[in-house]
Amino acid sequence: MKRIYLDHAATTPLSLGVLGMMQEALGQMDGNPSSLHHDGRQAKQLIDLAREQVSNALGCLFGEVVFTSSGTEAANQAILGVAWAARDGSRKKVLLGATEHHCVLHCQEVLAGLGFQVVLIPANRDGSISVADVSKLLDEEVLMVSVMHGNNETGVINPVTEIAEVCRDAGALFHCDCVQTFPGYWTVDSIGADLVNVSAHKIHGPKGVGALYVRGGTKVKPLLVGGGQEREMRAGTENLLGIVGLGWATEEARAKIEDDTRSIARDAFLESVLRCSGVVHTVAGTDRPVLPGHAHLRSPGLEAEIVLIRLDREGVGGGSSV
Ligand SMILES: Cc1ncc(COP(=O)(O)O)c(C=O)c1O
Repeated sequence: MKRIYLDHAATTPLSLGVLGMMQEALGQMDGNPSSLHHDGRQAKQLIDLAREQVSNALGCLFGEVVFTSSGTEAANQAILGVAWAARDGSRKKVLLGATEHHCVLHCQEVLAGLGFQVVLIPANRDGSISVADVSKLLDEEVLMVSVMHGNNETGVINPVTEIAEVCRDAGALFHCDCVQTFPGYWTVDSIGADLVNVSAHKIHGPKGVGALYVRGGTKVKPLLVGGGQEREMRAGTENLLGIVGLGWATEEARAKIEDDTRSIARDAFLESVLRCSGVVHTVAGTDRPVLPGHAHLRSPGLEAEIVLIRLDREGVGGGSSV
């Protein structure tokens, strides 16, 4: 049976172009990038190129990108690293969007352990977070706010530039999970974010590698300690192959950024699916923009897992959001 894969919000297949670049780089990664000899320097050059590719896409400085094992690690590093660095300060609250990915929401327990109060920002019906709700919760005790750019489930795009602005006015740091929108028509400055996490496998890169942008001067404690890799922000010999893959996946995705066929395909898909009785498009009627490749559907009265299993039996892989 020919299978149809509709779960790109969870992960995307590795691009053959990216794979080719990774294979080509294999011959240059015999050395440890921390070694000063020729082989080490050759390996280091691969990381430098990837850092340039990712920092260009983020619109940030070369040295503001930290490579990690995943988008999850990058988000953990952002939130817990900032909290840990500020644990003796007077700002003891962290605001998290209620519809954040688990890599942000599950930081709650650790934050509580570090002595922080976590407040969830309520979400609207379409899963979005409004500036007004963030503003209401901001006070001089808030250390940091985390609101994602594009929601991985509903696809709704949050007003992150406006949210960053109210955070800045209140003296709070702003972390933005941009895993679903990277690379895009935005930069870290157009958003106004202090910390941004991204991931390779959502853009046809390899699984198990991500990156964190940290605005220069932001106080963050590393979660992994040991060697001085990543300018002491993330110890451990780098995942060279993964980092090379992230760099080239970023380049490829940027080259295709103007391709809007995803939303055309999505609209045609929606038109036929919404003919089925009882199926509801979650973000229908929203005044927020929605990611072009996302379609979040509900069928009230039907268990999501049963729909997923039945679709799977029919050869359709869709319906999860990791
Ligand atoms: C919005 C969002 N944030 C974070 C992650 C985690 O990224 P990773 O799978 O690289 O840990 C995902 C997907 O898995 C995601 O969709």
